[in-house]
Amino acid sequence: MARQRSPAEGLADEFEKRYGRRPEGVWSAPGRVNLVGEHTDYNLGYVLPFAIADRAYVAVGRRAERRLGMSSLQYPGEPVEVDLDDLRPGSLRGWSRYVAGVVWAYHRRGMAGPGVDLILDGRVPAGAGLSSSASIECAVEAAYGDLLGRTAEPVWRAQLAQKAENDFVGVPCGLLDQMASVGGVEGHALFFDTLGLAVRPVPLDPERSGLALIVADTGVAHALADGGYAARRADCEAAASLLGAASLRQVPDLAGQLDRLEDPVLARRARHVASENQRVLDVVDSLAAGDWTRVGQAMYASHASLRDDYEVSCPELDLTVECLRAAGALGARLTGGGFGGSVVALVAAERVDSATAALGESFTRAGLAPPRVRAVRAGPGARAEQKR
Ligand code: GLA
Repeated sequence: MARQRSPAEGLADEFEKRYGRRPEGVWSAPGRVNLVGEHTDYNLGYVLPFAIADRAYVAVGRRAERRLGMSSLQYPGEPVEVDLDDLRPGSLRGWSRYVAGVVWAYHRRGMAGPGVDLILDGRVPAGAGLSSSASIECAVEAAYGDLLGRTAEPVWRAQLAQKAENDFVGVPCGLLDQMASVGGVEGHALFFDTLGLAVRPVPLDPERSGLALIVADTGVAHALADGGYAARRADCEAAASLLGAASLRQVPDLAGQLDRLEDPVLARRARHVASENQRVLDVVDSLAAGDWTRVGQAMYASHASLRDDYEVSCPELDLTVECLRAAGALGARLTGGGFGGSVVALVAAERVDSATAALGESFTRAGLAPPRVRAVRAGPGARAEQKR
C-alpha cells in the first residue's frame, strides 16, 4: 500500500502549485492543553500545559520583493498580499493577522527579514480553547527565525509570538500558550514559572497507569478578543495594585491578604489566583509521586474555582465536568481561557468509551449537540518538518 503523505509533504506540494516553485521548508507548531494553572500566567504565576498532536503547518519560501504573500488551506478563497513596510496593528483581519503579526514582531525587534510567500495549514480546531492562534504564530516564528538564521531561546521565541498576539492582533494574552507551543516536550508537561521565566519539563504519562487524558470540546466557541478575558485581567491588576504589588504573584502571602480587598469581586478573583498557583505546585508534586487521585482532585478544585471565584465557565463546560465526574473521571476542568471551549479530564482508559457515551446522552437530553471527545498525549513543540 502507498505510504500516506505527511501534512508537511502535502503542504509543500500545495505551495508549489500556488507559487510555482518549491518552498524552502515546512515548519510546524502544536496547540496545547493546560493541565492546571488557568488565568495565572498574566498574574506572573505558575502554569502546567502540554503540547498536543494537533499542529499548524506552514510552508515558506523567500521572494525578491519586500512583500508577504499568505494563503491558507482552511480559507482557500482569501490569499492576502501585503507590503512588509505597510504592516501595522489593525491593518489586517482574520487568520492572516496571526501570521503577519509574527513577521511584524521580528521587524519591530530590529530584525528585518526577507519578503516571503507562505501557505498555512492550521489543523488545531479554532475556538476550542486549544490555542489554534498560538500554533499558527509559533509555526511562523519557527519558519521566519530559521530564514533569518536565528537560534534563540524558547522563552524569547515564545515572547515574540506573544508580542504578535498582544500588539498586532490585540489580544492581551499571557505567555502560557506560546510557551507550550514553542517548548513542548513529548511525554512531558511544562512546569513554567511566568515570573522567573523558568521552564521544567515534568513527565506526564498517564497511560502507564492505565489512565487517559481526554479533551471534550463543547463546541461553544470562545472568543478571547471579547471583553471577558480583558476584564478579568483588569480585575487582577486592580487587586494587585490595591495590595501594593506589580502583580498578584508578587503579593507576599496573597492567600492571607485577601481580607484587605473590600470589593468582593476583586477578592474572589485574587482568591482564584492564589489557590490556582498552589494547585499547580501540588499537581507537580503529585505527578512526581505518581498520585493520580490527587492530580484529579486538584483538577476538580480548579474547575470549581474558575466557575465560582473567577466566573469564566459556562453551563456547557459545567455540565461536561459534572457528567464526567458521574461517569467516574478522576478529575475534570475547563482548559484555556474559558467562556466556552474544552474540558480536559483524567479518566481510567477502560472508562473512556462509557464516559463519552454518558456525556453524549446528557447533552442530547439537554437539547445540546454532544461534545467531541478524544484522547490527548503530550507531544513535541515547534520544529522544522523539512528544509532544503
Ligand atoms: C488563554 C490565554 C493564555 C491564558 C489562558 C488562561 O489561553 O491565551 O495566556 O491566560 O487563556 O489560563
